[in-house]
Formats: sequence, structure tokens, C-alpha cells
Amino acid sequence: MIPKHVAIIMDGNGRWGKKRGLTRSEGHYAGSQTMEELIDASAEVGVEILTLYAFSTENWKRPKDEVNYLMNLPVKFFNQKLPEFMRRNIKILISGDIENLPKGTKKAVINAMKETEDNTGLIVNFALNYSSRSEIVQAIYGIMQDAKSNPLLLEELDEETFERYLYTRGLPDPDIVIRTGGEKRISNFLMWQSSTADLRFVDDLFPDFKKEQYLKVIEDQNHDDDSWKECAG
Ligand code: FPP
Repeated sequence: MIPKHVAIIMDGNGRWGKKRGLTRSEGHYAGSQTMEELIDASAEVGVEILTLYAFSTENWKRPKDEVNYLMNLPVKFFNQKLPEFMRRNIKILISGDIENLPKGTKKAVINAMKETEDNTGLIVNFALNYSSRSEIVQAIYGIMQDAKSNPLLLEELDEETFERYLYTRGLPDPDIVIRTGGEKRISNFLMWQSSTADLRFVDDLFPDFKKEQYLKVIEDQNHDDDSWKECAG
């Protein structure tokens, strides 16, 4: 069964570059090529939502050159790919703190979301300047703000209402979270949303995680929506 929502922690670009005597940024470029291949593969096999961890709030601590490169990637990427996404009915979403992105990046991602907002095909959701903990804190803040004019909100607060304050509002939870690069950690990614997801850790560095490897992972997983309840119970 093809999962409806796949989320990927795209790890290992830097190491991939280093192994080849290239820069970390060249590794990210190779990663962006792989990312395009996985977007195509997802559309082809009928994945409905693909969430990609493109930049965490922790990533600001990286060398300035690398941060600049990573912030420029979406600008180039959307410049080049938007017409194709329109043709292929692909919708772009961003989960993360868009406000604090550099001006050019912010403009490019807002434009990509606006242009594609009526598209009804594959949703590609970029986690950009994203932190799961911040997401949860800002959701609580939003609820507290809205509760000032609507005190019932707190009395009636439940999981469904809470989810409406997350960056991922309106999206179903991921069925599977894949992390490439060999590490077995979640790294502040979709902690609320992935509480019932299958977690798959693969050793390939992200640029090497091509269509063939990707399809093998998603076709292998046989997600049964209710199996976690049995385990938890
Ligand atoms: C982690 O690998 C990867 C990132 C921080 C960036 C991932 C971004 C892309 C694949 C492209 C995004 C493109 C667009 C258009 C949004 P790492 O550098 O931490 O790898 P390492 O563990 O080997 O150091």
C-alpha cells in the first residue's frame, strides 16, 4: 500500500560532498537533485503529500557560506521549477517560521505557495526554518491569544483544535518518516505529527537515496492505521 503522506529527513549531504572531495554546499546541490527525483517518484506512484526537512532552526549555526547557499536554493529552485509544478498540478506548502527567512527566500516561498494554491495534485510541503518544539510553543501561544476573545476555546480544547494551530494544519499525519544518512534520531521534526508513523532509518547519504531506494522503502512499509492502537493498548 502506498502511504498517503511521506516525510523525509534529508540527511547526509555534507558527508556525501566530503567523501568526494567536494564542498558541503556541493553536497546540498546533489541533495536537491535527488529531492527533485523523489518529488517525481512520489507523484508517479500516488503519494499525496511529501514533507521534506529542508532547513531546521538549528541549521542557522552552520558556517555562513553554507547557510547562504541553503537559503538561496529555494529561490533558484522555485524560479526554475514553478512552471513545471503548475503544469503538473503540484501544490507547494511551507511548514516553518517564514517570517524570519531572508527577504529573497521569503518572497520566493510565499510566491510558490500563492501560485500553486489551487493545484490539487501532489502536495510538496517543505519544512523550512522549522523546529517541532517551536511549532508546538507557537501553537500554544496562538491558542492563548485567540482565547482572549473566545474563552470557550480553552474549555473545549482537544487534539483536533490544537492541530489547527500547527504549521501542518489541514494535512493528515505522515504515515512514514524516513531518515537518510545512518543516524537514528528525529531531530526536532514533526514530533506531534509523527507520533503514530512508521520510522525508517536508512544508511544511504541523501544524494544517494534515489527513486529505486525510495520506492523500496515506501513499498516495504505496510502501514496499518490501527496497529499502533493495539500496541499502545
Ligand atoms: C542535512 O544534511 C541536509 C540539510 C540541512 C539540507 C537539505 C536540503 C536539501 C536536500 C535541498 C533543499 C532544497 C530546496 C529547494 C528547499 P547535512 O548537511 O547535515 O549532512 P551531514 O550529516 O552529512 O553533515
